[in-house]
Amino acid sequence: MSELRQRHIPKPDSDDLTQPPPEDTENESENDDEEEFDVEVEEEEEENNAGISLLDIIRVLVTLVLASCGLSYYMTSSESLLWGYRPWFTRWPVLMRYIEGPLNLTPTELSLYNGTNPSLPIYLAVNGSIFDVSANPMIYGPGGSYNFFTGKDATRAFVTGCFKEDLTPDLSGVEEMFIPIDDEDEIASLTAAQRKMRREQDVRLARAKVNKTVAHWENFFRNHKKYFQVGRVVSVDEVDGEGEKRPRELCEAARMSRPKRRDI
Ligand code: HEM
Repeated sequence: MSELRQRHIPKPDSDDLTQPPPEDTENESENDDEEEFDVEVEEEEEENNAGISLLDIIRVLVTLVLASCGLSYYMTSSESLLWGYRPWFTRWPVLMRYIEGPLNLTPTELSLYNGTNPSLPIYLAVNGSIFDVSANPMIYGPGGSYNFFTGKDATRAFVTGCFKEDLTPDLSGVEEMFIPIDDEDEIASLTAAQRKMRREQDVRLARAKVNKTVAHWENFFRNHKKYFQVGRVVSVDEVDGEGEKRPRELCEAARMSRPKRRDI
């Protein structure tokens, strides 16, 4: 609040009756003008002396934020206003999936999401988890280098690298690819019990490697900044063969990649 400073106006000497009374109206309006002028000058001075106001700080901050967003947008090739940081809820498809809840698909339903229908997103599955990979049509779309993974759960191929033969979730017998090939002479020198024990240990270690590989790929898609999980594959509606399931044979490439005991 500006403080009004009263000008000292000399009072007419009440005793001096000889003096005629002052010409009130003219003098008063002159005084008023001067007073107004003084107040204005004072207010201006006060404004100038106030230093940095809150408004100034807000102005500077807003300018800095806008400049940073603009620069980030430019530097990240129009991808992000926040230097690559994109919370999941700012990604429209992820938010929609969150609101709609997880999508559970049978293998037959999942097969529709392989990129051939442009009105559908592109999905692939690892270990039963379905991921939306539509953000990368160059890799997963029709003609893309990894299009064969889409519309299905091809967990086995993620482990073996056999992209033709192993596009299936069936992991039976896959651990064999991590079990070392024994040296004939060395294995002959072992007792039956020793061989059994070694085999059990090999299988245990090999299964751990399979699980690790599967987890690696599942996490790769789950934590990818462009992909996201949409749901799970449910009720396997295709049964391979009848009766007791035999472990699936190792594909050629996986068989060839088996380590040799003497090398480890
Ligand atoms: C078990 C074996 C393998 C698996 C499971 C596998 C899987 C994958 C996957 C899922 C992607 C896509 C990554 C993304 O979405 O960004 C990818 C990309 C890629 N992979 Fe593999 N890969 C394997 C072996 C190989 C090998 C042996 C090579 C080289 C000869 C290779 C070369 C590439 C290349 C160049 C890309 C980049 C994407 C592209 O240009 O198409 N991969 N791989």
